[in-house]
Amino acid sequence: MKLLITGGAGFIGSNFVRHIFKKYPKYKIINLDKLTYAGNLDNLKDIADNAAAEGKYSFVRGDISDKVVVEDILKDGVDAIINFAAESHVDRSIDDSRVFVDTNIIGTQVLLDAALKFQVNRYIQISTDEVYGSLGPTGKFSESTPLAPNSPYSASKTSADLFVRAFYETYGLNTVITRCSNNYGPYQFPEKLIPLFITNAFYDQELPLYGDGKNIRDWIFVTDHCKAIDLVLHHGKPGQVYNIGGNEEKDNTEITKTILNALNKPESLIKYVKDRPGHDRRYAIDDSKIKNELGWSQEYDFETGMNETVKWYLDNKDWWERIKTGEYLEFYSRWYEGR
Ligand code: NAD
Ligand code: DAU
Repeated sequence: MKLLITGGAGFIGSNFVRHIFKKYPKYKIINLDKLTYAGNLDNLKDIADNAAAEGKYSFVRGDISDKVVVEDILKDGVDAIINFAAESHVDRSIDDSRVFVDTNIIGTQVLLDAALKFQVNRYIQISTDEVYGSLGPTGKFSESTPLAPNSPYSASKTSADLFVRAFYETYGLNTVITRCSNNYGPYQFPEKLIPLFITNAFYDQELPLYGDGKNIRDWIFVTDHCKAIDLVLHHGKPGQVYNIGGNEEKDNTEITKTILNALNKPESLIKYVKDRPGHDRRYAIDDSKIKNELGWSQEYDFETGMNETVKWYLDNKDWWERIKTGEYLEFYSRWYEGR
């Protein structure tokens, strides 16, 4: 099987590339990635050269919204596209949403058009539970929960999902959408809660908790997400949506204290800051559909996943220290101004 993986130099995409080569040594992968601030070829350093030498892997630096680049790849034939490429950070979408439209919406539309033109057999859209909006203290998102995005990021992901749906309904393109909850694990860019707080705490820097610190997310270890996408790629039903969750609801204060305990750091590092505008209160996932139809289940509980994650960041200080410079610091000085 020959796969076009977009965004394969990012957090989940690089974990998925690693998963595929481990499980399907004969598969071929083309990784199309723009290498934005979040894309990092170091994420695949340990496997890319060998796989390329065996003729199984190639990297194309390019933009999914560039039709010429996408068609140039697809003209030689691929069996499936898995679209991970996105602007993925809610805070950055609040700071400036334009690139979220360009990549998340237009990029998806370009990929869908090209998939149709070159008769790609399968198109998987990696979406998010944030398309459903926010929950009160009870209940869970199912695949039929109405779409109600609250941030510019989730609005762009929802728009993309609607294009995917339309290409299935209108043209019969073989599409599937996955909607997963919050991932954590190795290679996550240190702007997201868990890696940001691990790397800040390591140097005794403040941990900026938004609002009252009681917002709840459902946390899934990234390799469990990759296994679910693998099942959807091979067995998901065309036109369907599959929710994926970790079954580990935690509020942000609990996550923060877990990190402080693991690093033996004091709670005085916590700084309560002004809330994220439009901050969704709670996410929880009903993932019974993928469990019942495709036989998926999580392998990691939160404690095991967090131990592995903290260890990875402690063992890979070079990786994140190189990131926490330049544009990264510029974004944060702008973001925290007045907060
Ligand atoms: P990430 O920000 O770590 O990686 C995104 C990757 O996409 C980067 O390598 C970046 O260079 C690339 N990219 C961005 N714009 C591009 C463009 N125009 N053309 C080509 N490449 C481009 O993101 P992530 O956390 O790995 O998320 C991957 C996907 O999973 C996203 O679609 C995101 O919406 C979705 N998702 C993420 C989570 C999560 O918790 N991280 C949960 C559910 C769904
Ligand atoms: O639910 C899936 C989504 O999870 C994905 O679609 C997104 O790509 C991914 O970024 C993530 O979105 P969140 O906004 O939930 O993740 P983030 O790590 O930014 O924030 C998690 C929670 O922690 C949220 O309630 C906001 C809070 N937070 C975050 C940061 C960065 C803080 O309190 N302080 C912080 O500095």
